[in-house]
Amino acid sequence: MRVPLNDPTEPTLPVEPYKVKVVERIPNPSREDRERALVRAGFNLFNLHSDEVRIDLLTDSGTGAMSDRQWAALMIGDESYAGSRNFARFESTVRSITGFHHILPTHQGRAAENLLFSTLCRPGNVVPNNMHFDTTRAHVLRNGGRPVNVAVRDAYDPQSDFPFKGNIDVPALDALLRREGRENVPLVMVTITNNTGGGQPVSLANFREVARTARAHGVPLYVDMCRWAENAYFVRERESGMRAKSIAEIGRAFFDLCDGATMSAKKDGLVNIGGFVATRDRSLAARMKELLILYEGFPTYGGLARRDLEAMSVGLEEAMDLDYLTHRVEQVRYVAGLLDARAVPYLHPVGGHGIYLDVRRFLPHLSDEDLPGQALAVELYREGGLRTVEVGSIMFGPDQGSKRPPLELVRLAIPRRVYSASHLAFVADVVARVYERRADVRGLTMVYRPERLPHFTARFAPKRGASSRAPRAGRAAPRRKRA
Ligand code: F0G
Repeated sequence: MRVPLNDPTEPTLPVEPYKVKVVERIPNPSREDRERALVRAGFNLFNLHSDEVRIDLLTDSGTGAMSDRQWAALMIGDESYAGSRNFARFESTVRSITGFHHILPTHQGRAAENLLFSTLCRPGNVVPNNMHFDTTRAHVLRNGGRPVNVAVRDAYDPQSDFPFKGNIDVPALDALLRREGRENVPLVMVTITNNTGGGQPVSLANFREVARTARAHGVPLYVDMCRWAENAYFVRERESGMRAKSIAEIGRAFFDLCDGATMSAKKDGLVNIGGFVATRDRSLAARMKELLILYEGFPTYGGLARRDLEAMSVGLEEAMDLDYLTHRVEQVRYVAGLLDARAVPYLHPVGGHGIYLDVRRFLPHLSDEDLPGQALAVELYREGGLRTVEVGSIMFGPDQGSKRPPLELVRLAIPRRVYSASHLAFVADVVARVYERRADVRGLTMVYRPERLPHFTARFAPKRGASSRAPRAGRAAPRRKRA
């Protein structure tokens, strides 16, 4: 069932497959409040207080709404330090979804990455991935390794409509493995969906080739499965012969091809905190378990309350529901449809968990030195209180090896089961309003740069005077009434 919202020619959205049981008031800071907040925050939206944010699209991680069944699950928490029955259920749920035998719970995805990379990665090693997420890359670097992205070329073209822009460039992977040898590549990692590249899916056909290549070189294959259910949804929709399969079956086809996985369950586990690392390798599991106890906690709770494990078991199951996934992906497409009507440039095709604005087309008058992604994120906040995140030169700055990151994006991540169609229509309207006055948007300079993961804590200041390049008038978008 779908509804046209305002008139039949406008984009439509499927009816939400859930109803509201608890509500949370949305703050409504005034323009003056927002200007003050920007200055206090050093123009870094991570430094805003949530009370200063109207619609929070900073991340889809741990920001979703739990279901009534998940809240009920919290009440059957068995808070035993060792051997909790919640762990038994969690372990059997993850085993039945993935087929991996050794399951180590962690408090979130990066803790799982810490266990895996601290155990496997040695100084000088090379770790290929379609595109490393920022924490994955940081863990490889911290262990002295070199993260290398080997996504297909289409992944770097925001206007390409290639349906599987998360795919690995298999000949490039093969060449890398030949060059480095198995001694120097502790694992191949594939991130599904490819978050850094726009929430783009990896096809099963490509994954099979990756698995064949990794196996031929004797290198283990791991999957970063944060958004595996969204990936399976796209495979079901776009890959031939997949339409009759369930999300669980498609997921299992991926997991059967690899040696293990890391997961931030804050995404497709539908919880506010939780994650795990899983493997078929008994000796690796034993080594990781020692670190798990040191850094996270005993292996039957892994840094979580046991009730969190119970909520995660329920969330992992709910994330495979086709009605939920259809609505989720259609929410993203709905925003895209509204942006199309106002000619706003974004990365195509839209991915599973958000819209990624194509900053170089959005603000062509700004150069890379103007930090245009951050400048746009600031402007979206200034215009309508939206909190978004730059995915570009700051998140993946100069220490990536090349001066200019191939993609300069601003991500509008959609939290799961949180915002309604009218919230999303408001979001699209704010973005379009900024696009209409884009020639006025000025660049920023970074006034404080931390050494690691700079986007979280850097501070910025607006550049004075005119921008570094002459503003170019874009196509005029039709005027609409304001929300
Ligand atoms: N891998 C991917 C692909 C991710 O997107 C994230 C987190 C992680 C690993 C780390 O997981 O946050 O639970 O420690 N992504 C969030 C985001 C933060 O906003 O995209 P975590």
